[in-house]
Amino acid sequence: MPTFPTMADPEGRTLGDEEVAAAERVIRSGMLNSVWGTEARALEAELAGTYGSRHAISCSSGTAALHLSVVAAAPEPGDEIITTPITDFGTVAPILAQNAVPVFADVDPRTGNLDPDAVAKLVGPRTRAVLAVHLFGAPAPVDQLRSIADEHGLMLIEDCAQAWLTELPGGGLAGTVGEVGCLSLQQWKHITCGDGGLVITDDDLLARRMRLFSDKGWDRAAGRSYESFGLNYRMTELQAAVARAQLAKLPGVVAARRRTAARLLDALAGLDGLELPRPEGHTWWLFPIVLTAGGAGELAEALRATGIPARAGYLAEPLNRAPVWEQPVYGTSRFPLEEYEPAACPEAERLVSETLLVIDWNENYTDEHIDAIAREIRRLVS
Ligand SMILES: Cc1ncc(COP(=O)(O)O)c(C=O)c1O
Repeated sequence: MPTFPTMADPEGRTLGDEEVAAAERVIRSGMLNSVWGTEARALEAELAGTYGSRHAISCSSGTAALHLSVVAAAPEPGDEIITTPITDFGTVAPILAQNAVPVFADVDPRTGNLDPDAVAKLVGPRTRAVLAVHLFGAPAPVDQLRSIADEHGLMLIEDCAQAWLTELPGGGLAGTVGEVGCLSLQQWKHITCGDGGLVITDDDLLARRMRLFSDKGWDRAAGRSYESFGLNYRMTELQAAVARAQLAKLPGVVAARRRTAARLLDALAGLDGLELPRPEGHTWWLFPIVLTAGGAGELAEALRATGIPARAGYLAEPLNRAPVWEQPVYGTSRFPLEEYEPAACPEAERLVSETLLVIDWNENYTDEHIDAIAREIRRLVS
């Protein structure tokens, strides 16, 4: 069995001389803070160019980016934001941080992405926004979610932390259909600077609201005057310089992941009991497989025993079942969750507990890695 490169070691990352030069450039400049430096502003301009968006704002993490997006949606305390139970908690924590209530909608059992019909059923008088996640790099149905949001006057936020350069069925990139798109540069993402986040938007007002919040509500052009409530979510120049070098490598990362994913799809085609992911638009953060009759836990364990980095379920439990909902939110207070009990999401629960298998994916996999994965899956499921 070949050794599989991971996102936690140099062989599984694209960090090289360019990133070393970028970090050195910043250190030698003496300016590590993005308020006075040039790197974060340059990264924002480059990202806006990549996504064709009017504004890009850098920040300290994907979670911070999502917090900015919820700030942009401006929920009243107790308002609801509909989102998915299959995601990182970084999607949901910002909803709580703004005193809003996460409402979990069920997912498509083939992809784990939000089911628009389930979302539509949950829209109520207190719904303020829909927060969709492009799970594992596959496009979520944001065109349908856009229609639902427009019909009810809601904001649509796209969490693209796992979906750099993911393409949508009608053309265009994931992140450009919602009022705000969010990206993460954390260690395990397509590209990284350790931690980091970015938001994109075409809306001048929302951009201003998010930029102010990311810098303590301080309008730097207006002297030392604090205009609104905010935190310090600024990206450092070191993060930004490394992220710029990584952004230049992103198309290559995505192309490499697509090439090997296509090879695995070919090699697994026709196997009974496996629902393979659709490749259209996918950028393969992970390679998910749905086992229609269940047994993902056993298969993941058997694959891991051979050295293949496979896991069942992605999460220990979907977020609607997370222990966090039994805890106080602030001090001993459960506000805004006093009456809260997340609804059942049967499809998400079955995916996580029985049917979903994910294989770690990497731009540095070779044909040998793919052929080994295919051989072991074929051996174990037939
Ligand atoms: C879908 C999703 N949303 C949000 C986050 C949070 O991003 P970060 O870890 O950069 O805060 C992550 C990853 O960690 C993620 O995978």
